[in-house]
Amino acid sequence: MSETVKKKILAICGSPTKGMTYKALKDIEKSYPDIDYKIISIKDANIEQCIGCYQCVQKGEERCPLKDDRDMIIDEMNKADGVIFASPVYVNHVSGLMKNFMDRIGYNTHRPSYFDKFAMVIGVCRGFGADKVAEYLGGILTTFGFNVVSSLELQYSSRSDKEIQFNHEKIIGGMDTLLEKIEKGNKNKPELLQVIMFNLFKYISEAHPDEYSADYEYYKDKSGYYYDTKMKFFHNFIAGRVVKQFDGDMLKNRM
Ligand SMILES: Cc1cc2nc3c(=O)[nH]c(=O)nc-3n(C[C@H](O)[C@H](O)[C@H](O)COP(=O)(O)O)c2cc1C
Repeated sequence: MSETVKKKILAICGSPTKGMTYKALKDIEKSYPDIDYKIISIKDANIEQCIGCYQCVQKGEERCPLKDDRDMIIDEMNKADGVIFASPVYVNHVSGLMKNFMDRIGYNTHRPSYFDKFAMVIGVCRGFGADKVAEYLGGILTTFGFNVVSSLELQYSSRSDKEIQFNHEKIIGGMDTLLEKIEKGNKNKPELLQVIMFNLFKYISEAHPDEYSADYEYYKDKSGYYYDTKMKFFHNFIAGRVVKQFDGDMLKNRM
């Protein structure tokens, strides 16, 4: 008898505490005993602060001078069917831990590689801002290529049983959608911003192959990414104008 393969879900926790964000991720562990589930708390991993050298973007992620747990987490992301990114709201944004982690893997906006992966994002607040966090995480992960299929805004203010139950039901709804989309392989249609960025970075790398050598290698064998061939002219027009502006700014800055 063939055994059903368990879906592999990785949850990345951006909270420096074992508070509500972590508890929401533990709720998933309890509620879905049949999935292969792992939580990585960024605070428990060795993730150094991005030093802004830009080597990962321009020359390739392997050139990052920081040798820490970044690649271990990336390996786990690559092995998963679905990845959950969860962050508390700190002053209307993700936590510093989560933002730094996004900086460390931000080269993926230039060279998206997660087109086969599904994602759920979770923002956890006490009052306001979970929508901002979910929107930020969802937007960035979409540019990484992820199929972002669930977006949860969890508010824990009174932390009463009723509120916890309400949020639990949201978590179950989000997880059910994530697992169903993985099961059916139901990928998102590319968003306009994704298409424009893909074509834009391809353009820039062709205009500046030495400066953006990693992008050049990534894009050189890829044709433009158009979800509608009628849009091809439009994208080339926009991308061409942006490259001209970019070149102009670079010239000005160097004079
Ligand atoms: C520095 C800091 C800033 C915060 N900013 C906000 C905020 O803008 N909006 C909000 O609703 N809650 C804010 N909070 C509350 C947290 O989002 C809330 O307590 C959340 O549950 C914390 O996540 P945790 O329980 O996983 O630690 C803030 C908390 C801290 C420590």
